[in-house]
Amino acid sequence: SLVIDSMKEVAKEALIKVPESTSFMPNLPIVDLSKLLSEEVKSPELEKLDRACKEWGFFQLINHGVDMKLVEDVKRGAQELFHLPIEEKKKLWQKPGDMEGFGQMLGSDEGSSNWVDLFYILTLPSHLRKPHLFHNIPMPFRKNLEDYCIKMRELAMNIFVLIGKALGIEAWDIEESIREGGQSIRMNYYPPCPQPENVLGLNAHTDGSALTILLQANEVDGLQIDKHGTWVPVKPLPNAFIISLGDVLEVMTNGMYRSTMHRAVVNSEKERVSIATFYGPGRSGNIGPAPTLVTPERPALFKTIGVTDFYKGYLSPEYLGKPKSYIND
Ligand code: SIN
Ligand code: FE2
Repeated sequence: SLVIDSMKEVAKEALIKVPESTSFMPNLPIVDLSKLLSEEVKSPELEKLDRACKEWGFFQLINHGVDMKLVEDVKRGAQELFHLPIEEKKKLWQKPGDMEGFGQMLGSDEGSSNWVDLFYILTLPSHLRKPHLFHNIPMPFRKNLEDYCIKMRELAMNIFVLIGKALGIEAWDIEESIREGGQSIRMNYYPPCPQPENVLGLNAHTDGSALTILLQANEVDGLQIDKHGTWVPVKPLPNAFIISLGDVLEVMTNGMYRSTMHRAVVNSEKERVSIATFYGPGRSGNIGPAPTLVTPERPALFKTIGVTDFYKGYLSPEYLGKPKSYIND
């Protein structure tokens, strides 16, 4: 595909090595995008991707081809954003009933304690951007974020195509539907917490997106992934993105691939900043299992329902868990 071809060149740029020794167990799978893009047929790396998606719903993506200078600029920009003077921050405040802007986790007053401030913004398609928000992001971060959005879209599209390939699907219509879909970015700021054992930065949840590209913006770890009931701490490799498969992908793959519970913990000493880029479907249309993945042996695990209905459950107080409305009985 054209998308893949255009990535091949860039992917050569920042080849990095996977460390020989890893002091944490079990290991979040590491997938090498440059290998995936250079191998034509079903390959060991594609099998790795397939296993990661089946067994974890998460992986670290290395050699992704995104310019690391841009990534570093975005990381720094996100950190600085949370340290803006209060007058500047106010320009970017959440409006009542709106999720965008600086604010707190929705539902955080429902008995759960999310020890996090966030800045949430719809980024693509650009006509959906709120003028009062995007344009008030200080330069040069605004420009860097703009570039980052485009790169994240390319990356997400590549991953969708490769996921289709891993599933052996010729025409993978998720790529098409998501291309029309929406991108949003949530920057998370976890201040140091005097009693980190009593709170969570983010409660356990699965992502409601199709795909999430996670970037830890400073050196402080905190992401944990549920692996068969154990919270596995993630140690992001330098220059890697953490990829999380969302609920939409679980539905579209008819459960072949899963979205996985994860959470963020905090610590008493250091603030932590992370950046989540979400890819979701457009505002119209349906979400359901890809027809080729529904067979007599594997009936549809999920209903095919409209996007609006799909997301209804997410805005209820318990939206940090996976809404069950679209699961077939
Ligand atoms: C999340 O977006 O689910 C958590 C990201 C993080 O802080 O690592
Ligand atoms: Fe998440």
